[in-house]
Amino acid sequence: MKVIRTKEEMRRAVRRAQAEDRTVGLVPTMGFFHEGHLELMRRASECDVVVVSLFVNPTQFGEGEDFTDYPRDFDRDCAMAESVGVDYVFAPEPSEMYPEGFTTRVVVEKMSDLMCGAFRPGHFIGVATVVAKLFNIMPADRAYFGQKDAQQLAVIRAMARDLDFDIEIVGVPTVREEDGLAMSSRNTYLEADERAAATVLHRALDRASELAEKGERDPEELRRAVVDTIGAEPLARLEYVNICDNIYLRPTADLKGEILIALAVRIGRARLIDNVILRIE
Ligand code: PAJ
Repeated sequence: MKVIRTKEEMRRAVRRAQAEDRTVGLVPTMGFFHEGHLELMRRASECDVVVVSLFVNPTQFGEGEDFTDYPRDFDRDCAMAESVGVDYVFAPEPSEMYPEGFTTRVVVEKMSDLMCGAFRPGHFIGVATVVAKLFNIMPADRAYFGQKDAQQLAVIRAMARDLDFDIEIVGVPTVREEDGLAMSSRNTYLEADERAAATVLHRALDRASELAEKGERDPEELRRAVVDTIGAEPLARLEYVNICDNIYLRPTADLKGEILIALAVRIGRARLIDNVILRIE
């Protein structure tokens, strides 16, 4: 496995692989790997060459958010990536990605201001901009993103489609701990009692899914199930729950087709997100 620090060298490595007719899979990350990240890398192994980008992107963190505290362990990350057969780790310095005078931003309108975007203004501009840059530096055949970050996945799909990136976007199901908590680098912020309380996100989504399975077709009833479940956990504070279509993320009154239920909850220092997709006939 090779660590690359510059855009130029990275672009050359991808071009070289593609000139030899080898497919390239890209896994964008901010590091501090867990099984969720490794699962994306394993899926990417369907490509001949796997590139993981590891860059804690400053522009997607708001003022007062956890950019400086964000957990980092480069050596451990490299060992983990190597263990699942990654070929290249692209780990640029912020100055390589955002040199003096950088002034362009990619805005995926409407979808970026909903849900997490309403609580983290500018977050999805930072995400879309850095992912567009990564797609240009590494014009891979496929790029892999987790369903865990459902809004991010929807924003990136929209951006790739609207800006004609010739990269197939692959969504990978959420990897969970045994008790159902979605894996996240930010779970390290949880104290022991908070960690126990954090299963409430999954429990709330399960309750809503069960209702839908039993035939409930009123989104307000599903919302109530989520709100009540989160409300019963004293350490948890619900930020939002959105019941919407899984393409444009527009709230829906009509529970039909592919429905996304997504929520964000604050527990202690941590802001946790989770979601479920319902497929309703
Ligand atoms: P990061 O939070 O490091 O996540 C990297 C990728 O791993 C994302 O696609 C995310 O959805 C996926 N992922 C995280 N936890 C997961 C889990 N439990 N199961 C499955 N996949 C999971 O998301 C980012 O970084 C950044 O915003 C990035 C896209 C790299 C842009 O900076």
